[in-house]
Amino acid sequence: MLFDPIKISNLEIQNRFVRSATHEWLAEGNGKPTQKLGDIYENLARNEVGLIITGYSYVNPRGKSAHNQQGIYTDDFIDPYSHLVSRVHRYNSKIMLQIVHGGRQSMVSDNNSALAPSAVTDEATGITPAEMTEPQILQTIEDFANAARRARAAGFDGVQLHCAHGFLLSNFISPYTNQRSDKWGGSIENRTRIIVEIIKRIRGMLFDMDYPITVKLNSTDGFGSGSDKSGLDIKDTIQIAKILEKSGVNAIEVSGGIFETHLMSQQNIDSIEKEAYFKKNAKLIKNAVNIPVILVGGVRSKYIMEKLISADNADMISMSRPFICEPDLVVKLKKGESEAARCVSCNLCFDSTGIKCNYFAKDIPTI
Ligand SMILES: Cc1cc2nc3c(=O)[nH]c(=O)nc-3n(C[C@H](O)[C@H](O)[C@H](O)COP(=O)(O)O)c2cc1C
Repeated sequence: MLFDPIKISNLEIQNRFVRSATHEWLAEGNGKPTQKLGDIYENLARNEVGLIITGYSYVNPRGKSAHNQQGIYTDDFIDPYSHLVSRVHRYNSKIMLQIVHGGRQSMVSDNNSALAPSAVTDEATGITPAEMTEPQILQTIEDFANAARRARAAGFDGVQLHCAHGFLLSNFISPYTNQRSDKWGGSIENRTRIIVEIIKRIRGMLFDMDYPITVKLNSTDGFGSGSDKSGLDIKDTIQIAKILEKSGVNAIEVSGGIFETHLMSQQNIDSIEKEAYFKKNAKLIKNAVNIPVILVGGVRSKYIMEKLISADNADMISMSRPFICEPDLVVKLKKGESEAARCVSCNLCFDSTGIKCNYFAKDIPTI
């Protein structure tokens, strides 16, 4: 079952494994992909990861969130990305580009403040973003569509819109970060409008109704019941997922959390019970839509992966940290050489000198 093929739109993927988008800190300063990034993706492809999603790639320099982050903001990016894609396509793996605008989690400078639907101060960073004007929203829709056009021209098998983890598109869908009273805020339809308009514009620009467009979607902002704040919750997300399906999204990856709710999206897994922490939300979304649902977040054992697919929590299993530690995990699971990822979810892989598993590298004693 984990090794059965599946289709996203017309794209056939050899198995149910996805390398979830993972920022590697390995792009050039201007966002261009490097040889080292290609090495990582080619290695994952050689090791039979069905679908690889790149690290988040900014569609406009104003929406850059991290050093050495990948970009896709001019046509000059098409050529270097096409080399990277062709390395993956030497194998039977598919690759999608994750495209993002950082929103209130963008890097700020003396000249540029962060942009967001509303000027809600981020308590994690202390940054108060500027409320976007209507022309800035319309320009951002164009920026995303142009990024998708470039991705397709470079040979990517699809794109993923990053609508999770507190970046711009997740700022729009959340009632906590979107307090607008115009057509871009308020009701669920209004909060989702920017994503729907991006999808329409991509389809219009590409003249292609089948090019795979996927979304990584926050199912919750992660403020617990004890918090004095309330953000996006699963009831809203179910409606958002339905709107996205109707507007032509071909698959949804279910995640959660924003900077202010800390490690919600990268939780610690120290027991099998803690695995797949968004599985209930994924199941609720899967019940509401007819497109493939991809589950990410703390999936580690083959037993759990099989259970998630057979119990209809998800159609595909997505992992980030385990593939940093073991790029050959899929092959090991397939051959029966391993029953679970050895990743200990320590988060030491957040390494701004270039992504790597620093846990096993430094031989830190087991927790
Ligand atoms: C180092 C690192 C970088 C990440 N970068 C991204 C990213 O660029 N885009 C994204 O959507 N998620 C990113 N994530 C989140 C992962 O895709 C994933 O949602 C999260 O780590 C939970 O999955 P896991 O338990 O399999 O690691 C990153 C995670 C890590 C550890």
